[in-house]
Amino acid sequence: MSYSVQIHAFRELLDQTGVVDDPERIATYTTDQRQLFTGSTFAVLKPATTKQVADIVKLAARLSIGVVPQGGNTSYCGGATPDASGRQIIVSLERMDRIREIDPLSMSISVDAGAILKNVQDAAADAGLLLPLSLGAEGSCRIGGNIGTNAGGLSVVKYGMTRDLLLGIEAVLADGTIVSDMRKLRKNNTGYDVKQCFVGSEGTLGIVTGAVLRLAPLPTRRTTAWLKLAAGAPLAELLALVRRESADLLTTFEFMTARSIALATDAMTNPPSVGAGPGGAVLVELASSSNHLDLDGLIEGVLSEAVESGWIEDAFLAQSGAQRAAMWEARETIPEGEKRCNGSVKHDISVPLSAIQRFLDAAGSQVRAYGTNLELSVYGHVGDGNLHYNVLVPSNADRIEFTREIEGGLSLQLYDTAASLGGTFSAEHGVGRFKKHLLERYGDAGRIAAMRRIKAAFDPANILNAGAVVRPFEPDDVD
Ligand code: FAD
Ligand code: MLT
Ligand code: ZN
Repeated sequence: MSYSVQIHAFRELLDQTGVVDDPERIATYTTDQRQLFTGSTFAVLKPATTKQVADIVKLAARLSIGVVPQGGNTSYCGGATPDASGRQIIVSLERMDRIREIDPLSMSISVDAGAILKNVQDAAADAGLLLPLSLGAEGSCRIGGNIGTNAGGLSVVKYGMTRDLLLGIEAVLADGTIVSDMRKLRKNNTGYDVKQCFVGSEGTLGIVTGAVLRLAPLPTRRTTAWLKLAAGAPLAELLALVRRESADLLTTFEFMTARSIALATDAMTNPPSVGAGPGGAVLVELASSSNHLDLDGLIEGVLSEAVESGWIEDAFLAQSGAQRAAMWEARETIPEGEKRCNGSVKHDISVPLSAIQRFLDAAGSQVRAYGTNLELSVYGHVGDGNLHYNVLVPSNADRIEFTREIEGGLSLQLYDTAASLGGTFSAEHGVGRFKKHLLERYGDAGRIAAMRRIKAAFDPANILNAGAVVRPFEPDDVD
């Protein structure tokens, strides 16, 4: 069947705006966020309802066309990008962006999967509550994509990953079955927790069309501190001190090296005068919804202990909302700063907190041994044991060639080090298309076998995002 006949068939299911087949408009959906790969498709479909998603999936299965779900297309590992075959269509959830319901007493929000994260945060805040998921891409990523990648971000140390916020789900399976489990329950031990199958599955097990998310009390007080670390400051011990002595009111503990901060501040219009000590810098935030707690007093006590221990050289408390925002901007602009300087080869590793210093020491030696002229931008969610250990692309290098060279050599050494410390090659960015070989290299064989069986059970014909994460188990396969 020709593409035009297939497009006609999809048009029958959707209205005119629901099918995009103009190559120029399609092009904005087929390249991944980091511009490392461009796939091919003959149409982008934009359903407006869950039923339309189900109809699309059924028709695609009948026509043997693959389906790639897409939210904001901010995936860092090519998870939302179709392959080069031209035999996969993109299903963009962008028209399904409603806030369905906020239930303040149940502290939950029910949304369409295409809702932009920032809009969901704002809707919760309007109701006096907090959606505790926050990341640099929040202005463009969508809830379905956050679920697909099990997004983490900037307050995981307090609130957990997307997985921990998910109460209910609505999703379409590979045969068009609709799973409708939009419940707000904290407790529901009635068999398998099916909704969790979709979390981190990167569009390979179903298309999420709706979600119920857990909300938290909206902090009314915050204290934000920028710490300049002394040489050799022990990050995990400092974190433990802050957690303990703040009665665990810590919501953020973000580590940054001097180079990462400089990249960010160079890219800002009004950069704050923040910098790093010899051991780097940490952005710490405590938050509380109680008006009776003296957070500034708490942080001052904590910091004076850290100074006495010789771990921090200097610390500034944000004195206004504007100062706080500037500190946050300096942290959140790091990826953009890297991008402006020809980009970086990203290593989104995590290790147990007790091993973070060992990782930094060993990885530093590996980088020095690999090439004396390599520059690093190292920062991340150290509160979660997660570092973005990025190698900057030299300004005179071809970005793609350099990326391929590092990924084939140094990256594997760094991942070996993370693995040897009980860590992982992907803490929060996922596997997608780009990191499948790493899953094969580092994944436990039994776990991969289980993943392939789950994929086969949910999607035996491999319709959903084929080529991402894992292929289904087939009867002839020997694991
Ligand atoms: P997409 O990129 O569109 O899709 C991601 C994956 O989910 C794909 O495999 C796709 O097929 C699948 N998917 C999308 N929608 C659905 C759906 N409805 N149903 C089923 N599957 C679906 N990640 C973090 O965890 N923490 C960070 O701090 C962080 N910071 C970032 C900062 C920047 C500037 C950028 C560009 C990215 C960052 N990311 C971060 C990576 C990225 O994972 C997140 O931005 C986000 O979770 C992806 O959402 P999205 O809507 O863009 O998904
Ligand atoms: C972040 O924490 O800023 C992102 O996950 C890392 C990145 O954008 O490279
Ligand atoms: Zn991150």
